[in-house]
Amino acid sequence: MKINNKNCQTIWLNENDNKIVQVFDQRYFPHEIKVIDLTSSDDVYFAIKEMVVRGAPLIGVTAAYGVYLICLEAQNKENPNEYITNTCEKLKSARPTAVNLDWAINEMLTTLEHVNTTKEKIAVALEKANAIKNEDIQTSIKMGEFGLEIIKEIARKKNGALVNILTHCNAGWLATIDWGTATAPIYKAFLAGIDVHIWVDETRPRNQGASLTAFELNQQGVKHTLIADNTGGHLMQHGLVDLVIVGTDRTTKNGDVANKIGTYLKALAAYDNHIPFYVAAPSSSIDFSIADGVNNIPIETRDENEVKYIQGLLNNEIKSVLICPETTPAVNYGFDVTPARLITGLITERGVCGASEEELKKLFPEKY
Ligand code: MRU
Repeated sequence: MKINNKNCQTIWLNENDNKIVQVFDQRYFPHEIKVIDLTSSDDVYFAIKEMVVRGAPLIGVTAAYGVYLICLEAQNKENPNEYITNTCEKLKSARPTAVNLDWAINEMLTTLEHVNTTKEKIAVALEKANAIKNEDIQTSIKMGEFGLEIIKEIARKKNGALVNILTHCNAGWLATIDWGTATAPIYKAFLAGIDVHIWVDETRPRNQGASLTAFELNQQGVKHTLIADNTGGHLMQHGLVDLVIVGTDRTTKNGDVANKIGTYLKALAAYDNHIPFYVAAPSSSIDFSIADGVNNIPIETRDENEVKYIQGLLNNEIKSVLICPETTPAVNYGFDVTPARLITGLITERGVCGASEEELKKLFPEKY
């Protein structure tokens, strides 16, 4: 996807030194486009924890390159294997909800298991991280193609009139490597000439909708309107939403979906108004080890200051301002769980299926 008309991806290796991993510092979008170097496992831990990079698939790919950096560091350690195991465990703890973090680190460790020397491990880790990255792009493209059929069908029923799609948080290309998860069908529909318009939830407290989704849709030229998080229900009651598509940080075996806080409320409103509610769920974000989500998915609780302060541009400078009495306590749950019964379907890289164990089993029999 494009930034200032230049094709970009969210993570890459420095072209002169492949020991430097580079990413956009997403804390500054849309006001500043900053690139940051990740040269150590501490850098990667910080980038994931502090949301320099975020979004389940990008967290996973960044962690995969993190394991490559860990292997480089292991060269100078007395017990390299112990160092790799322990540092990977620490990296896994950076953010608890997105299962892609665990998934990617486990994929890397399984690949490295039978590689003997640290030197060989470095080469194999780099190759595997590149493969996970490329696989993520292909996954997004496939989800885009399957999701496009859903949008096409709505456009057909509306005789080609504008299709209004609501999305929450940022499940766009900035949350992946390219194309996005929830946005992949949107970009495919836009490129196919379907008239689409996106309602962008601002997504408090970190405002990933306002600062990231609005930014990337704007950059690709897709029609969109920013709304306060509480607006979706009203729009749905008045026939202004044809479809909801969101992403996921962890989907359980029975189709329950953990996604950015506030997703559940949108699903309830969509259900009440008979509006299709789809989740774009790459298999890297499906946790086949958990039976159901509401009580079993670890929900990240973040710093209360993310709720008490809001960040924006003032006189050309990025500022943070307090929006409540300084001593008011706040609580900051990062995610909530939408029960499978409220979900019309899961858009995966293998096709679209119902949100249930029975349906998921048909697409991913090897996982059961
Ligand atoms: O806290 P974030 O910004 O990492 O949360 C991101 C989301 O909740 C996304 O919707 C989810 O990761 C799916 S992204 C493709």
